[in-house]
Amino acid sequence: MTFNILITDPLSEDGITPLRQAEEMNIHIQTDYTPAELIENIRDYDALLIRSQTQVTREVIENAPNLKIIGRAGVGVDNIDLDAATEHGIIVVNAPDGNTNSAAEHTMAMIMALARNIPQAFNSLKNQQWDRKSFIGVELKHKTLGIVGLGRIGAEVAARAKGQRMDVIAYDPFLTDEKARKMGITCGTLEEVLKQADFLTIHTPLLKETRNLINKEAFDMMKDSVRIVNCARGGIIDEDALYDAIVAKKVAGAALDVFETEPFVDHKLLTLPEVIATPHLAASTVEAQEIVAVDVSADVVSFLNGGVVQNPVNLPSVSKEVMLKIGPFFELSEKLGSFLSSLVDGVVEEVTIHYSGDLSELDVRPLTRNTLKGLLKKNLGDHVNDVNARFLADQIGIEVNEFKTSTSKGFTNLLTVEARTANGTRRVSGTLLNGLGSRIVKVDKYNVDVVPEGHLIFVKHKDQPGAIGRVGTLLAKADINIATMQVGRANAGGDAIMMLSIDKYVEQQDVQNLTELDDIYDVTVIDL
Ligand code: NAD
Ligand code: MLT
Repeated sequence: MTFNILITDPLSEDGITPLRQAEEMNIHIQTDYTPAELIENIRDYDALLIRSQTQVTREVIENAPNLKIIGRAGVGVDNIDLDAATEHGIIVVNAPDGNTNSAAEHTMAMIMALARNIPQAFNSLKNQQWDRKSFIGVELKHKTLGIVGLGRIGAEVAARAKGQRMDVIAYDPFLTDEKARKMGITCGTLEEVLKQADFLTIHTPLLKETRNLINKEAFDMMKDSVRIVNCARGGIIDEDALYDAIVAKKVAGAALDVFETEPFVDHKLLTLPEVIATPHLAASTVEAQEIVAVDVSADVVSFLNGGVVQNPVNLPSVSKEVMLKIGPFFELSEKLGSFLSSLVDGVVEEVTIHYSGDLSELDVRPLTRNTLKGLLKKNLGDHVNDVNARFLADQIGIEVNEFKTSTSKGFTNLLTVEARTANGTRRVSGTLLNGLGSRIVKVDKYNVDVVPEGHLIFVKHKDQPGAIGRVGTLLAKADINIATMQVGRANAGGDAIMMLSIDKYVEQQDVQNLTELDDIYDVTVIDL
């Protein structure tokens, strides 16, 4: 199968080597699409690779019926409608680590350029002015650097600032005193950081909570002559409030790499001599661009070839080691979900998955998603996948529970899936037998031993002589060959079950005929 890959932002040519080297990848690079052209042309593509420029809106996603994966060569995914991607079962991957160093170094360059007025002095010199009075700077030593957002980049900036003999105070919802102490910095509240900073640098993502986080009230709290740096995302600093604070001499200068609307070329902030700026360059080093492009290209190739991805954004990431351990259970979990979808009668309100034995020690979230995928596919079709299965279950209102127990009733591993509807709870259990593959070992209260594949018929009947024979005879008349048959009963003369695996699809009329046989209560056809 050939996959069509579209690249709409400039990516490092060396970085996309994994894509170029992979087989069956038809790569198209088009970095000048307008939003309308992207919507018009996305239809045939299986993968889209971007940086921060391309806006992957809901409309783009809704016009991309073949799109399976979006690769963001960088960290921020605020230019992708993640909800829309998840709803459409499109996985989004990014390259979270590749440009950390580049962005941290750029931040330090901005702090220093700001402190020493380097761009302004250089411009003046270019204009043939030898002006040694207008550009007197300030030193970093013993100044306080306030950091808002101490993630990957914030932490790297903190380490570098300490090298400049700065005192660092940071605010991050995940920063503890203990961690700050180990890093040789101070952990503060947002207010403390704003109040104490001589230089304030922002390193949060752009989220609902961080939009306009640095606004008029924030500027009012700051020291006079504070200097502001933003190499994270436009929109975190309120640009009008920043302009006013600079004009009012509250803020002595600002160094900006990112802007609320990009490209940012004609804005009143750029008219202020106190503002220095770069056009979203923090990640633009040869090294970083190569790493981020390699990372996302490798994930795209792996995903399209049915493999796992390293940096999923809209799926919980699971380590390679765990993936290796739970990988063999993928098929079983989907089949159990699918089996149950045929067995249940009514609308599923609650799904409970019990992970027992070896499985209880693992991160089983991918298996839960896979089980839901199997369960939902019958009614929702093939667009259900790992990415949207959990989302779709939530949207439908299915309550999903996971339980783990180390005991597994004699099996090394046991996966039991229960589905509750208004008509009762049905359950199926399966196991992976060492070297022998998957088996369904229990349906409701009956023990069975069935390979979960092909055409199965599950019959509930009265434990009476002749019941099994009648079923066999009817199937023979319909030219349906029985490959294997299991019977089970709770007690003699009571309820019993037959689990038949047959060689071909059963027509609805044959199911009806089976149901009408004496002593037969219920017939379910399951195609796995
Ligand atoms: P990260 O996820 O490692 O760190 C972000 C940190 O922000 C996290 O620790 C998080 O807890 C914290 N945070 C979230 N909400 C917060 C809040 N309300 N207040 C304080 N802290 C909060 O991300 P990163 O890799 O360090 O990237 C940081 C930012 O830099 C992102 O916005 C990313 O898109 C941007 N970035 C920009 C460029 C560029 O070219 N300018 C390059 C790389 C990254
Ligand atoms: C990022 O979030 O990684 C940066 O914005 C880099 C980029 O522009 O791609």
